[in-house]
Amino acid sequence: MSFTIPEEATPRLNRSELAVPGSNPALFEKAAASNADVVFLDLEDAVAPDDKEQARKNVIEAINDIDWGRKTLSVRINGLDTHYMYRDVVDVLEQAGERLDLIMIPKVGTASDIYAIDMLCTQIEAAKGRKKRIGFEMIIETALGMQNIHEIAAASKRNESLHFGVADYAAYTKARTTGIGGPNPMYGVLTDVDGDNPRDFHWGDMWHYAVARMVVAARANGLRPIDGPFGDFSDPEGFKAQAYRSAILGCEGKWAIHPSQIDMANEVNGPSEAEITRAKRILAAMEQAQREGKGAVSLDGRLIDIASIRQATVMVDKAAAIAA
Ligand code: GLV
Ligand code: MG
Repeated sequence: MSFTIPEEATPRLNRSELAVPGSNPALFEKAAASNADVVFLDLEDAVAPDDKEQARKNVIEAINDIDWGRKTLSVRINGLDTHYMYRDVVDVLEQAGERLDLIMIPKVGTASDIYAIDMLCTQIEAAKGRKKRIGFEMIIETALGMQNIHEIAAASKRNESLHFGVADYAAYTKARTTGIGGPNPMYGVLTDVDGDNPRDFHWGDMWHYAVARMVVAARANGLRPIDGPFGDFSDPEGFKAQAYRSAILGCEGKWAIHPSQIDMANEVNGPSEAEITRAKRILAAMEQAQREGKGAVSLDGRLIDIASIRQATVMVDKAAAIAA
């Protein structure tokens, strides 16, 4: 291990993160009663310009009046390039109570963006005597943000998670797609295993680099990496495939842009019974190995060693957090 040890952000379950437009209060109670680990009330792209002010009022009222149970509650503010942003932060932090946990910052481009909002939050918290320090979720969804992701991840003690905003990322990198997440049938390789003609076409994952880069930046700074939206809510199989792909790379959760995606995100991002059982068996086998002075042993015909203890502990700890 390096002498530098990343400090872990406030631990929270973040298997599913439900997006709820701030302009649609009819959805708030349902969101509060849902199985989502995190709910973010949106003031940004799901809200039309003419509705921004009313949405802000709705969100403040909802934070104060609705019983959000044990959920983590967040508000997505507008981008730093808009005149809505300062008022989002000022009004929400001045008028909404301590129930709010996080602010989600969209289209972050540089570490200075985080610095600016940190300063604003710090001043308001001090002026208003807020007791709970607001944490930050940051959406990486522009080319600039992806370029500067490591500095962004390290920019503030408030930082808790990085999110891959696939829709805007496609737009800002000028990727040739109009879908929100998911594969593109044009992105693939021709394979020729049997030397046949015509050759086989295998789809690739056009988002692999972005998600993998985000996972590294997040984990190196003790943050949660979270995969963003999958727009086709009538395709549960497609959602699950996308969610497994990012979970396997290290993401801890995925957005739900429709209530039907919440349970799927929870399922994919919580370890399965089989995974928990295997993790516990690994821990037991390694305890035995260590009692016998061994660093590595075999379990079911496969090598396990001290790194396996770390992997298994991640699973068992997550299962315990879900059960708590
Ligand atoms: C989320 O904000 C996205 O752009 O995908
Ligand atoms: Mg976006």
